[in-house]
Amino acid sequence: MTKILMVCLGNICRSPLAQGILEGKVEEKGIEAEVDSCGTSSWHVGEPPDERMQQEATAHGINLSHMRARQFTIDDFDDFDKIFVMDTSNYENVLALARDENDRQKVDLMLNVSLPGSHKSVPDPYFGGGAGFQKVYELLDEACEKFAQSLV
Ligand code: 4NP
Repeated sequence: MTKILMVCLGNICRSPLAQGILEGKVEEKGIEAEVDSCGTSSWHVGEPPDERMQQEATAHGINLSHMRARQFTIDDFDDFDKIFVMDTSNYENVLALARDENDRQKVDLMLNVSLPGSHKSVPDPYFGGGAGFQKVYELLDEACEKFAQSLV
């Protein structure tokens, strides 16, 4: 059973969608994996995903309404095998909490899966318009598809 954690800043836009997309793909491919998500900040703890992100997810048959934001903790290094961060700021914040090399090697940028070695960020859609949410879906769908294939 592989345990995967998706991490962004607020845990209300990018990482809940990444969780929902990957959950759908592992289910569809019959892969034994558990997926969760969280944020590096505590700003939205307890809140459901952003309404705009929920709408984008629904358009692709993915329901995020049961999810509630939580903050990343050091215990997550023990509880998960792989920690995908959405942007370089999340990467720095999570790595700053790593206790050793074993923790550090679990962390990677999500888009390094679809664009190896690119160190590209999934753009934060929170302060932008609707097109940003669609772009996030496209980037995450591609990366999650590639990652799910690597687990088959
Ligand atoms: P997320 O998006 O990190 O993809 O969940 C954000 C959500 C909230 C804020 C920033 C980004 N905020 O500034 O409150």
